[in-house]
Amino acid sequence: MSGNLETSGPANRSANPTFAEVREARLTRRGLLRGAAGASLLSALPGCATRSAGTTPRLSFTRLDPSTSDALRVPPEYEATVLLRWGDPVGSAGGSPGFRFDASNSAADQAVQAGMHHDGMHFYPLPYGSGSSTHGLLALNHEYLDEGLLFPDGQKTWSAEKVMKAQHAVGVSVVEVELKDGAWRVVRPSPYARRITARTPCRIAGPAAGHPLMRTAAHPDGLRVLGTYSGCAHGWTPWGTYLTCEENWQFQFVNRGAIPSEYRRYGITATGRRYRWEEYDERFDAAKHPHEPNRFGWVVEIDPHDPGAEPVKRTTLGRMAHEGAACAIGPDRRLAFYLADDAPFEYVYKFVTARPFDLSSRQANRDLLDEGTLYVARFNADGSGDWLPLVQGGGTLTAANGFRDQGEVLVKTRQAADILGATKMDRPEWIVPHPITREVYCACTGNTTRGRDGSEGPNPPNRRAPNPFGHIVRWREEGDDPASPRFRWDVFVQAGFADKGGTVTGDLFANPDGLWIDAMGTLWVETDVSPANLAKGDFAPLGNNQVLAVDPAAGVFKRFLTGPRGCEITGFHTTPDNRTAFVNIQHPGEVPGDRSNPDDPRALSNWPDYWIGGRPRSATVVIRRRDGGIVGT
Ligand code: FEO
Ligand code: CA
Ligand code: CA
Repeated sequence: MSGNLETSGPANRSANPTFAEVREARLTRRGLLRGAAGASLLSALPGCATRSAGTTPRLSFTRLDPSTSDALRVPPEYEATVLLRWGDPVGSAGGSPGFRFDASNSAADQAVQAGMHHDGMHFYPLPYGSGSSTHGLLALNHEYLDEGLLFPDGQKTWSAEKVMKAQHAVGVSVVEVELKDGAWRVVRPSPYARRITARTPCRIAGPAAGHPLMRTAAHPDGLRVLGTYSGCAHGWTPWGTYLTCEENWQFQFVNRGAIPSEYRRYGITATGRRYRWEEYDERFDAAKHPHEPNRFGWVVEIDPHDPGAEPVKRTTLGRMAHEGAACAIGPDRRLAFYLADDAPFEYVYKFVTARPFDLSSRQANRDLLDEGTLYVARFNADGSGDWLPLVQGGGTLTAANGFRDQGEVLVKTRQAADILGATKMDRPEWIVPHPITREVYCACTGNTTRGRDGSEGPNPPNRRAPNPFGHIVRWREEGDDPASPRFRWDVFVQAGFADKGGTVTGDLFANPDGLWIDAMGTLWVETDVSPANLAKGDFAPLGNNQVLAVDPAAGVFKRFLTGPRGCEITGFHTTPDNRTAFVNIQHPGEVPGDRSNPDDPRALSNWPDYWIGGRPRSATVVIRRRDGGIVGT
């Protein structure tokens, strides 16, 4: 019977909670603390230190020696299994075409398969707010691509179809994963599974949205842009969204004409890295579409729980070669996001929200990232540091200096930071706040040009010139408040050999890049020695790229994983119970110049398939202790 529904109200008047009430209840503090969102909350709320306060990581696993073999190695107490390779279907509604080992999959296939060059990654428990460590969503970046692997003939022929496939091979994947009968698997099909690519429509939000500098022929209102790519490292929010961070987006652009100096500040050159996208997608010709580059270099927020939600470029977090957006929550529940601009002599930033995070309503945080202040770091010689606000009209960021409004400050973030006198760093990569001590760790991967050819020599936090091995800088905010304008800093470690200025205790490494601190307080350091240096010269004793586990208080590095040849290692991440680690093996077999020979694609590596004649494939790997115990022990 339905005749009197309108006048009688809800048919069920019992005290049972409605679905909406249950969902909202899960977003309460307690629910959030258990969830993936909780992991980030835990990493920042002072009271959350109790989860493992007093716990010292017990890094009792069998340490590994360096390796040059074409294999992924973990300690004997552990097992590592491949979960998601480039070309594996993500399980979305568009179908599940299998990977063809001769790289003959079409652009349409690639649009529903995992992209290449996996990078930063985050696990989101399902159901939302449950804190599950056996079922969830993985969101991961696909940073860049290698046409020598992507196509049967590399770039020998070129076409619109090839450009489309290349554009589908980058971006982000969201996959549903579950641990069943002792093994993790990708759930296919899944209503959450999704690919976001260089062709996915995105919204632009914040002070640069609609700005004249953001307007193009295709999008004259400056409020939308097609695609995100070059996502590197990653960020997360306490409301369960994923932040992809556009890093070396400039390489896809070419500039064959005169172009203003501000574009040169972002590294746009005549040829780019010869991706050849502009040949069939003219917006990547910066001379013809001079504002198109302004629409890249942002942090992009993606809701992995809603496959229909449009990615949003949050311009408040500035425009640079973004490397991560690591979240910390202050005592007043305002959020700080630590940001690095990964290029030689670029800067470290943080963004602080104007409003506190709302624990009671996910919806209330939807646009939290659109208001707040972007700061850039100045490291002083006395161990103090200052966060300098990038605010138009204040101090030197005036119209007379080229900044007519806040949108222009954000589009020209690097130039604004130049004027403020920020400290030039040695390629800052991942930044991660410690969940217990509240110290913040920042990997500076290295800078071979410091002190050379008239460039800046050593400065307080970057002491070696040149600095081929890299280092990790650490700081602590004044009052342990991530929103503070001041901090204290020190150099946690200088990588490489003692006779070259290294200060490593324990197992040696070079070029720290990815960082993660898990629920037990273990700092995980992933390395990215470039293919030009891997296993050669000064770097030879270090072998292939690796992962080290560190007790930050003791500062002793212990080698936990070694990768196959030619790879970098990135994306190390743990489930809330710390019994599963996910890690990304990026570009196995990479050669100097980043492009494989399509006639001999497996020259250096054909991990992980070892298929005769097969191509190496970037892949997400699951690592578990064989006894199901805590990862790192
Ligand atoms: Fe994509 Fe800076 O690493
Ligand atoms: Ca990196
Ligand atoms: Ca790197």
